[in-house]
Amino acid sequence: MDQRNIVLIGFMGTGKTTVGRRLAAQLGREFYDTDNEIERLVGMTVSEIFVRHGETRFRSEETLMAKKMGKVRNAVIATGGGIVLKPENIAALRENGLIICLQARPEVILERVSRKGTRPLLKRENPLQVIVEMLEERREAYQVADFYVDTSDLTYDEILEVIMAYLGKGE
Ligand code: S3P
Repeated sequence: MDQRNIVLIGFMGTGKTTVGRRLAAQLGREFYDTDNEIERLVGMTVSEIFVRHGETRFRSEETLMAKKMGKVRNAVIATGGGIVLKPENIAALRENGLIICLQARPEVILERVSRKGTRPLLKRENPLQVIVEMLEERREAYQVADFYVDTSDLTYDEILEVIMAYLGKGE
């Protein structure tokens, strides 16, 4: 594997952060999560940024972060689900990165995100319908990856195996 970053994209609740952290450990690489990096930089949680400053402010922080992450080397980078909304974000990440998109069925996404209360965009009535609509709206935007993994019915170990096999490091 070369020095290119491995960038995980995909909707909320598809497993990007956990998979990214484990993949980085397995490959002996640095791990970054754009949401966590933004939280550290701004000194607020993503939810707080949405409430106090609105989504537009969050999206500008996200673009700055995508550009910053485009400059690191040899890392695994998990991104926020909306990073694909701006083509310039993907352009920056792709410059030095291989893009892997994690996917999951809407019901599975709902189940996973309901365990945490950290997704401001899903704090609405009928979140399942919101998820279905957002997935549909973003379907094309996610079609920028080099490789896709549906994580709905896989354990983390299995997801890791699939990705490692793709990277050419499977046993
Ligand atoms: C968002 C996804 C979140 C976070 C923010 C917005 C989105 O990240 O960036 O709440 O627009 O899909 P995760 O995909 O890590 O949940």
